[in-house]
Amino acid sequence: MRGMISNKPILAADPRPRGVPAHVGVIMDGNGRWAASRGLPRIEGHRRGLEALRGAVRAAIDFGLDYLTVYSFSMENWSRPLEEVADLMGLLKRFIRNDLHDLHDANVKVKVIGRRDDLQPDIRGLLVEAEELTRANTGLNLIVAFNYGARQEIAAAARTLAEDVAAGRIKPSDIDEAFFAQRLDTAGVPDPDLIIRTSGEKRLSNFLMWQAAYSEFVFLPMHWPDFDRKAFAAALAEFGSRERRFGGVTAADENGKART
Ligand code: FPP
Repeated sequence: MRGMISNKPILAADPRPRGVPAHVGVIMDGNGRWAASRGLPRIEGHRRGLEALRGAVRAAIDFGLDYLTVYSFSMENWSRPLEEVADLMGLLKRFIRNDLHDLHDANVKVKVIGRRDDLQPDIRGLLVEAEELTRANTGLNLIVAFNYGARQEIAAAARTLAEDVAAGRIKPSDIDEAFFAQRLDTAGVPDPDLIIRTSGEKRLSNFLMWQAAYSEFVFLPMHWPDFDRKAFAAALAEFGSRERRFGGVTAADENGKART
């Protein structure tokens, strides 16, 4: 079955109403519990999770987001039973094979973050194909975190910087926050404004740890397969009601008013 990503034209210029985040990260949690509560195998939860992911991409386009980053497979997920790991690899292949052309038609630009070298060659090939085909697109940036781990990403960035210092290409004093960020998988991508996690867990679980320094968090009690456009809109509305201070103060603080 072909995927069903909308191919309606992307809205002009900056269509985001005030308070709509540019970049949303999503921790798609609870597929297993969704399945278990229905007496279904875990893979069924992941399959329904893929449907929810398709809906989230469509909604992100319609809501006018610039970036949607989805946590699809963490480095720690290798410790799951072999069969489940194979199922998740199969779903990634299915997503790219079935949906890539719809994503391309919808002007979506795909980027994959995470370690590639321990993935199967056919999966690596599909990831390159998805990025190459959509490279020039100008609509939603869909970032798929697959075999991703934030600590590993940060350690790898530190390693390349240490190698450059050792080789005399840069000086230790060149390394500041902006320089460091350019060595992360997300180089050039703005930090997520909002991170949504489903399933009621309130953890970051090694997702975008550097990038989430000032993100707002919305934790939803529903499991990921039940995440729909209405839940997404509600999370964005919650974000819109938050006052972000980035470590500073707001006008209300300065006027001595109570914080809301
Ligand atoms: C967490 O639920 C979810 C995952 C580890 C995988 C997320 C995958 C999808 C949403 C399907 C789309 C997949 C790809 C690869 C594009 P869990 O299994 O940890 O649920 P549990 O905590 O209830 O056991």
